[in-house]
Amino acid sequence: MDSNKRPETMQRITTPELANAFIDEQVASVRAQVGNKKVLLALSGGVDSSVVAALLIKAIGKQLVCVHVNHGLMRKGESEMVIDVFGKAMDANLVYIDATDRFLNLLAGVAEPEKKRKIIGGEFIKVFDEEAAKLEGIEFLAQGTIYPDILESDGVKAHHNVGGLPEDMKMELVEPVKLLYKDEVRVVGDALGLPHEMVYRQPFPGPGLGVRCLGAITRDRLHALREADAILREEFDIAGLAGKVWQYFIAVPDFKSVGVRDGKRYEGWPAIIRAVNTTDAMSATVEEIPYAVLHKITDRITSEVAGINRVLYDLTPKPCGTIEWE
Ligand code: XMP
Repeated sequence: MDSNKRPETMQRITTPELANAFIDEQVASVRAQVGNKKVLLALSGGVDSSVVAALLIKAIGKQLVCVHVNHGLMRKGESEMVIDVFGKAMDANLVYIDATDRFLNLLAGVAEPEKKRKIIGGEFIKVFDEEAAKLEGIEFLAQGTIYPDILESDGVKAHHNVGGLPEDMKMELVEPVKLLYKDEVRVVGDALGLPHEMVYRQPFPGPGLGVRCLGAITRDRLHALREADAILREEFDIAGLAGKVWQYFIAVPDFKSVGVRDGKRYEGWPAIIRAVNTTDAMSATVEEIPYAVLHKITDRITSEVAGINRVLYDLTPKPCGTIEWE
């Protein structure tokens, strides 16, 4: 039987009971596969790798070594959450690497989107590889592969995800959620006790804010983007839009316009809001955000975020605009 094919008889996991049954089954199967050996996992903090981490912590505890590489392009609070949830609450074996300077130094002056992606992906592998080399006795590599990744292995995510690991890493794979669809991964994550915020997190590209800090990334503009994005997320939460809109974020282009503040000329970057709905990310519609919410977000971003003097709302569906600006 092809272990990468979901059996037709496999029931869709929609309830805590079904999730718990799945978890018990996977805990037993991971223990049988791994024995007393060690397993390595690149833990990005995204839904899939987080659920795999929680499942493996349940199955093999400290035999799992989680490595979280902070490439400096995470959203506000994300790395901190990984440390709190896995390092502290779950007491996992977590190696946290702040590689911000490495990534931002390499990216300095690089404006072309594909080049930026290549640098981020390549450096990620390098950092992860260096950490793996320091660890001893690791024989398994865990991955948050999910069923759509298998079905679309030539598709978008596989093609541009950062999580691609070195091909010469000769380790046996542990992929406990590889036959699950995203909604099932979330039900399992809930059953494992992961925070709601983590389990229902919106999709976030592997290269992170690197694709939203347009053109050549600078630290000040990246900081402004991260702060503006945090305000957007906060206000969507307050307005009850967080669960309704599939993906929403800020992009900050690398040009300034003139503005005025306190009676003085004030040059700043625009913050562009993107808020879209889609089922498969191949096409997307623009969410109708109430004007009151847009005004509040605009007021907060322009008064709280240094360097931003205008807020724009992108009304373009996909096609012809892609979801990200890059
Ligand atoms: P576009 O911009 O092509 O994006 O309309 C479609 C969806 O893909 C997400 N995206 C990524 N997802 N790794 C991912 O896992 C990536 O490198 C990546 N780049 C874009 C994007 O956020 C949108 O949801």
